[in-house]
Amino acid sequence: MTDEATQPLWYKNAIFYEVPVRSFYDSNGDGIGDFKGITEKLDYIKSIGIDCIWLLPFYDSPLKDDGYDIRDYYSILPEYGTLEDFDLFIQTAHRMGIRVIADLVLNHVSDQNKWFVEARSSTNNPKRDWFVWSDTPDKYKNVRIIFTDTEKSNWTLDPNSGQYYWHRFFSHQPDLNFDNPEVRLEMINVIRFWLKRGLDGFRCDAVPYLFEREGTSCENLPETHQYFKEIRKIIDQEFPGKILLAEANQWPEDAKKYFGEEDEFQMNFNFPLMPRIFISLAKEDAFYIENIISKTLPVPDSCSWGLFLRNHDELTLEMVSDEERDIMYSEYAKIPKMRLNLGIRRRLAPLVENDRSVLEFLYALLLSLPGTPIFYYGDEINMGDNIYLGDRDGVRTPMQWSFDRNAGFSRADPEQLFAPVIISSNFHFETYNVESQSRLPSSFLNWLRKLVVTRRRNVSVFGMGSIEFLHSENKEILTFLRIYDSSIVLCVFNLAKKPSYVTLDLRKYAGWHVRELISQVRFPDIGELPYFFTMQKNSFFWMELERRDESEQP
Ligand code: GLC
Ligand code: CA
Repeated sequence: MTDEATQPLWYKNAIFYEVPVRSFYDSNGDGIGDFKGITEKLDYIKSIGIDCIWLLPFYDSPLKDDGYDIRDYYSILPEYGTLEDFDLFIQTAHRMGIRVIADLVLNHVSDQNKWFVEARSSTNNPKRDWFVWSDTPDKYKNVRIIFTDTEKSNWTLDPNSGQYYWHRFFSHQPDLNFDNPEVRLEMINVIRFWLKRGLDGFRCDAVPYLFEREGTSCENLPETHQYFKEIRKIIDQEFPGKILLAEANQWPEDAKKYFGEEDEFQMNFNFPLMPRIFISLAKEDAFYIENIISKTLPVPDSCSWGLFLRNHDELTLEMVSDEERDIMYSEYAKIPKMRLNLGIRRRLAPLVENDRSVLEFLYALLLSLPGTPIFYYGDEINMGDNIYLGDRDGVRTPMQWSFDRNAGFSRADPEQLFAPVIISSNFHFETYNVESQSRLPSSFLNWLRKLVVTRRRNVSVFGMGSIEFLHSENKEILTFLRIYDSSIVLCVFNLAKKPSYVTLDLRKYAGWHVRELISQVRFPDIGELPYFFTMQKNSFFWMELERRDESEQP
């Protein structure tokens, strides 16, 4: 593995892949994915062109929130394997040139965590102050509830002591008290423990909520930023090149602050952009994307937005206007079971009715905008979902490897699987699996591999380049330049569900050549007249603009 310290900005040129160990591959036939399984499948991950894996929580847990409820921060859930299996996975990934980050859940623990078990045992237990207690449920009245479908309050009564404990998520996930220096220190121990074992960084869960202050929303408080700056300093000193990626689902102004002055998070999910990509598509209007990109840029040079279409949660609609939320529900969640909390619990392919042109459009857009693309496992084979499973489980079903029993995920009896494989008629695993899709040259998977290779050939302009929007009279077409040194790529996207066209004023580049980036096909040179593109429904172009060589005849 190359030395991270010598490539400090590696994440800006990378593509990430989000994987739950549980759902990926079961090596021992007990119906549950494990570390040995994912190690066996690294070749596949490499074959899509992935640079960094993001592992969902794999720590010891009662799994009431799929592992985001941690019982022991220093051990691995036995079903997933041993610490040695973990080490071997990391070593193998590194040998293949793949980095690995993992979830770090700071805000809260499982109510089965021994810290909380001790804390609730008596009001004078030394761990009592590790959590946030109150005699009444009336403190912090301004704070919103996140899991609105399950929780009525952020306080739950502990009958033993008659006091209430604070939790931003499920009531079985008590929040830690970050005002307590022991808590802050313990979490730094956790960070050191896993980074020493070889992780390349963390996706930090639920970052806005660490501290509480009366009279505020208890989100994005200065104390929270300060603590992450301390963590960053430790990482820079002791583990240079390792990264922090923030999950901060906030409005653009608040989200941007997590980059700090290049002294906080290197990466941060672009939550503001994600729903607006879908809104732009639904409304056939480039405004939503252009507007939000302008609001989320610029970011400091060493920082990068994490760009994503879907993840393991519901497609969150907390940070959009009521009008925007209505558009999303009416377009993408017509059946009530598709909704959860303030969001939509569906995978990418079902969301867009498995429309191949829309799927290509979306991935191409993800790979074109400024930031680091993050794929969600299974979406690259257009996996379906199961809205009849509870909570968010319908988008976390077993990865589909082949058209064998259990989609090749496990040799267990089908009844034994942690979740059933997808067998609905339009998304059956017999068609949507890695083996079948790999064999079919025209499959989405093979198309995506080609697209990723093309991006990799031009990685500086996509990873590091600036963005400049071009304006036309046609709001259905999103057009922008990505520019890095002398490399320029013109990106043109037709948001409309029907053919459309656009004329662009490219006189600034008169005389330049135009080359389609994937096929390398030459298009007419740019002249003084407006440059013209006709576009199929939901189609796109990546066009390289090349300065004419001095020696060429005009
Ligand atoms: C984050 C995770 C989500 C989890 C929640 C509580 O939002 O993405 O899956 O339920 O935190 O830990
Ligand atoms: Ca297993």
